[in-house]
Amino acid sequence: MNEMLTITIDGVECTCQKGEYLYDVATRNGIWIPVLCRSDAFDDHRACCRICIVEVEERGRRKVVTACVYPIEQECTVYTKSEKILEERAVIMALLAHRAPDSERMAEMNKFMGRSGFDRLISVDGEKCILCGLCVQACNSLGTGAISTVLRGTDKKVDTPYGNPSAFCVGCLSCANVCPTDAIEYTQTDTTRTIWNREFDLAFCEECGSLMGTTESVRHAAGEDSEVPSVCDACRKKKLADEMMQTYRYV
Ligand code: SF4
Ligand code: FES
Repeated sequence: MNEMLTITIDGVECTCQKGEYLYDVATRNGIWIPVLCRSDAFDDHRACCRICIVEVEERGRRKVVTACVYPIEQECTVYTKSEKILEERAVIMALLAHRAPDSERMAEMNKFMGRSGFDRLISVDGEKCILCGLCVQACNSLGTGAISTVLRGTDKKVDTPYGNPSAFCVGCLSCANVCPTDAIEYTQTDTTRTIWNREFDLAFCEECGSLMGTTESVRHAAGEDSEVPSVCDACRKKKLADEMMQTYRYV
C-alpha cells in the first residue's frame, strides 16, 4: 500500500498518498485552484499554461510550483492564495487573456483573477486559443491525429494540414469539448455537423432516435473490423437484457 502523508493546504489538513498530484489533493478537499491546460480526460498533463501555480513550503523553504503536476513527496504546507501567488497568477492571466482576447471564458477569468497595469500588452485580435494543446492531445488519443499546431511565433495556431478538410477527422467534437477557452467552433443542423471545414452526416439511433455522433465517429469508435452499430449504447444494453430475459424464460 502507498505511504500516506498529511499536508496542509490553505490551513486545511489533507491526507493524501505519496506521489499524488497537489491539484488532485486540493480539489478532493474542496480547495479551488484554477486550471486551463489540465483535463480529467488525460492522465498525462501538459503543464504549459502555469495558471495553477501555488506556493509550497517544505522544510522551511518556499517555492512556486504548478499544482497540476506537482507530486507530493513529503509533508508540506501549501498556499494557493498568498500575495506572491495572486501577483504572479495575475501576470500569467494577463498574458493568456491578451493571447485570446475573444474568448469569453478568458475574459471572465481575467476579471476574477487579473489586475490592472497590463495596458502595454498587445492583444492577438480575433483569437480565442491559448495554445494549450489539449485539443491536439484529445485528437491524438483517439488515434485520429487530424489537427496539430502549425506555423510559428505569433502566427502559431491549431489547424488541419494547410487548413484543408482532413480525411482523418471524424467530426467527434472531442477537440471542441476539451478546449478550455471555447476556441473551436462548429455548426450543426438537424442532419449535419461542420467542423474544421468539413461537413459530416449525423447518425441517429434506430431504436430511440437519439444522436449517436457523426457517421464517421460512430464507425471510428466501433473499430475497423467491427460492424457499425445502428443503435445507441443504452438501446443496445436494453436489447441484450431483453434477450437474456427471454432466454431465461425458456430454460
Ligand atoms: S483550441 Fe482550445 S484546446 Fe486547442 S490549443 Fe487552443 S485553447 Fe487549447
Ligand atoms: S493547469 Fe497546471 S500548468 Fe496549466
